[in-house]
Amino acid sequence: MSNMGSYEEKYKDFDWKISEAELSFGKNDPINIGYFCSDRICEQGLGKKLALIWEGFTGEVKKYTYDDIRFHSNAFAQFFREIGLKPQDRICLFMDRIPELYISFLGILKMGGIAQPLFSAFGEEALFTRLDDAKTKAILTTKKHVGKVRRIRETLPELTKIIVVDADDFKLQEREFAFSMEKAPRVEKFDVFQAERETPSVLHYTSGTTGKPKGALHVHSSIIAQYLTTKWVLDLKPDDIYWCTADPGWVTGTSYGIIGPWSNGVTQVVLDSGFSADKWYAFAEKYKVTVWYSAPTAIRLLMKEGIEAVKRHDLSSLRYLLSVGEPLNAEAVVWSQKAFGKPFHDTYWQTETGSIVITNFLGMEIRPGSMGKAFPGIVATVVDPKNFEPITTPGSVGLIALKPGWPSMFRAYWNNKEIYDNKFKNGWYICGDRSSIDKDGYFWFVGRDDDVINTAGHLVGPFEIESALIEHKAVAEAAAVGKPDPINMEVVKAFVALKKGFEPSDDLELDIMNFIRKKLSPLAMPQEIAFVQSLPKTRSGKIMRRMLRAQEWGEPIGDTSTLEND
Ligand code: WT7
Repeated sequence: MSNMGSYEEKYKDFDWKISEAELSFGKNDPINIGYFCSDRICEQGLGKKLALIWEGFTGEVKKYTYDDIRFHSNAFAQFFREIGLKPQDRICLFMDRIPELYISFLGILKMGGIAQPLFSAFGEEALFTRLDDAKTKAILTTKKHVGKVRRIRETLPELTKIIVVDADDFKLQEREFAFSMEKAPRVEKFDVFQAERETPSVLHYTSGTTGKPKGALHVHSSIIAQYLTTKWVLDLKPDDIYWCTADPGWVTGTSYGIIGPWSNGVTQVVLDSGFSADKWYAFAEKYKVTVWYSAPTAIRLLMKEGIEAVKRHDLSSLRYLLSVGEPLNAEAVVWSQKAFGKPFHDTYWQTETGSIVITNFLGMEIRPGSMGKAFPGIVATVVDPKNFEPITTPGSVGLIALKPGWPSMFRAYWNNKEIYDNKFKNGWYICGDRSSIDKDGYFWFVGRDDDVINTAGHLVGPFEIESALIEHKAVAEAAAVGKPDPINMEVVKAFVALKKGFEPSDDLELDIMNFIRKKLSPLAMPQEIAFVQSLPKTRSGKIMRRMLRAQEWGEPIGDTSTLEND
């Protein structure tokens, strides 16, 4: 039975203007994400409502109302102006998931700055690459992470302001400022920067196969899509307690960990702590979480602990579960039905898309293992990789392609027009993933179309890992690929050919690992190094990562006709 009729029929007149009307977007109020996520909610009489309940790893709890996040974000914005930061300056967020991270994000936008969130787990080199590329003016960080900034700042002349948000009696160095959100006076009124629809707002770095990570640039009108998808896909309602487990270093943590819930005036909870099934269940139980947005790797970890762990808690508050970042196995959907009495709804999107584009939308029949269908207002298909024409045969695999023009789509890769332009073919934005579509319009994810490694939902570019490896004195050449892993889907495996005079050994492996650990984020660290005589290459000298990967996955090696003869 096909239910295509009902779904497509229901939304055939969909227009993003529905969202604009609900937000009164561009009417009299300023167009500014920071305004929509705080002032506007207070104007609706919700100033006393909780915006954020935060729990740290020591069990410490902090609560903030919409009034609190409004005046704290005003205070941040005012401080940025006072120290001379200007609209459109890139301001980096480099902190653990503390309240300041969420609230200063709004402050940056209110001042007109471009927020550049980065994972606090990044090592110096990963941090340097991204600050250097964006010519970042200021960085907000904490005592715990400022050391990494200090070690690279001499090579970053534009980085003139290093703001430590928990400085207290800390001895500041040159270019450093202290700003305590809790101690700063309330700032009731701040004249929010009047952005336009196309004014840049957020810059998220993402990895590709080649070259350095690229900064996907978003604009203030992205909120039109983030607001509505939060309402319709995450199904957030005024009384919900929402928990998004993603770090704002990742686009999920900003689009749906800040902008979506707060523009909808919803209370969200944040747990700044590592993973354990019991800790997570206890947290959801304690705060009576109703809507939970997580990722397949976390779900697989929960599955490992079994249904007994679920049963030790009262999780009856949970009413809606969602997942993003990697393929959600059918098994996980079936398990969650057993464990929680409800399925996880898969959502597919990217840093570049800014909001959910394909999903198991509320009310749709879920087909376990499928990502669902295109969100209303998104035209999605799969195209033939040769001519980029849509494939019309159900079940045939092609490249996922979206018709450009939805509000939250990225507008540029920072300073990289060529790579940006290359993402568009025959009038389609090419996502870089392979999928098929069944006769009812459901997308079935197949895999990525490039060499990017997806480990625990995080994209890791092989180039960054290989560049770090070849800086080691013993390494002649290197290739990084994903190998299968039961929890993280894939983990990084490195293949290394040594220079003359070096012999493979456990000691050398350890030495190389320690050498690259300082440069890479923990996610990008190889789990294994395999020493090889040489790496498979094309005739033009490009390393054939795909071949190494196929070996790891026990897949057919495919076309090797361009391989060098050796
Ligand atoms: C890539 C984008 C969107 C926020 C997080 C990731 C993979 C994402 C799914 C899914 C299978 C998925 C794709 C995509 N991906 N969601 N539901 N099923 N794969 O943002 O870091 O830009 O990664 O993650 O490969 O292209 P990102």
